[in-house]
Amino acid sequence: MLQDEAAPSAVREVLGVLGEACAEISRLVRSAAVAGQLGAAQTVNVQDEDQKALDILTDELLTARLSACAHVAALASEEQAEAISTGRTGGCLVAFDPLDGSSNVDVNVSVGTIFSLRRAPDTRPAHAEDFLGDGRSQLAAGYAVYGPQSMLVLSFDARVMAFSLDEHGAWILTEPSLQVPAATKEFAINMSNRRHWRAPVAAYIDDCLAGREGPRGKDFNMRWVGSMVADVHRILMRGGVFLYPWDAREPDRPGKLRMLYEGHPMALLVERAGGRATDGVRPLLDRTPPSLHARTAIVLGSAEEVERVRDVG
Ligand code: AHG
Ligand code: MN
Ligand code: MN
Repeated sequence: MLQDEAAPSAVREVLGVLGEACAEISRLVRSAAVAGQLGAAQTVNVQDEDQKALDILTDELLTARLSACAHVAALASEEQAEAISTGRTGGCLVAFDPLDGSSNVDVNVSVGTIFSLRRAPDTRPAHAEDFLGDGRSQLAAGYAVYGPQSMLVLSFDARVMAFSLDEHGAWILTEPSLQVPAATKEFAINMSNRRHWRAPVAAYIDDCLAGREGPRGKDFNMRWVGSMVADVHRILMRGGVFLYPWDAREPDRPGKLRMLYEGHPMALLVERAGGRATDGVRPLLDRTPPSLHARTAIVLGSAEEVERVRDVG
């Protein structure tokens, strides 16, 4: 997939393994109803969220493929309490969300896999704390979205490239350099939480909803897939703004989404495509998670809209 590209060899190897694993997951998701693999697993993960059978199968698949890769020193999954060290030195640390949007999988709505690569220590085996860097320390990041087409979007240099899965299971480069337009008329937020937001987020959305007659002077459209990969993919393809802010349902939690598995990788892609990504105040790439499963508020997408949102706690 990346044979002629300029990524360092360890990064290239690991991205190759992730590409193959995502092609396998695409097949797994496509055949899940026939294979009897839809539905709940009757288990909860480390974040106390109900797991689908496919959350576990995809986590096991990625863990096996990445553990077998000579350039992976450690991996951290949204579905597992602890990071796993392979005992190797050098190479990459890989953090991943094996199945993003999994509550959508039983109803045949797009889901995906998100991943983030960091440099592993050269002189000792890696441990969990090595993952706790800011977003700028990512060597590469990407996601696969399993929708009407399966696509793989990734960045290991200044570009954000998109590949589409062909009928033989190969990723074909279909978009060499994605760009998020600075202006948009489309927002994505779970509106059912409006009463729980802080005033600046509610005011921003109310201004969008007021349309042409309101302070923004233009009509906005709304989309909310409920799978971050699908919502971010739409923004990378045609612009828009995505918000998952803090809300008062769980006031001690900074947001629903996770910095390491969702926030940092998507922020890297969106910023390299010319967009912006913040936690409502600071650039997400400047933030360092205090722990593997730490959560964050997320505002990302078209620069002009992200810059309007300042959700101070
Ligand atoms: P995951 O399935 O990995 O737990 O992530 C679900 C996330 C994300 O994909 C999406 O943007 C968000 O949860 C949807 O939240 P709502 O249930 O509030 O719509
Ligand atoms: Mn997720
Ligand atoms: Mn997930």
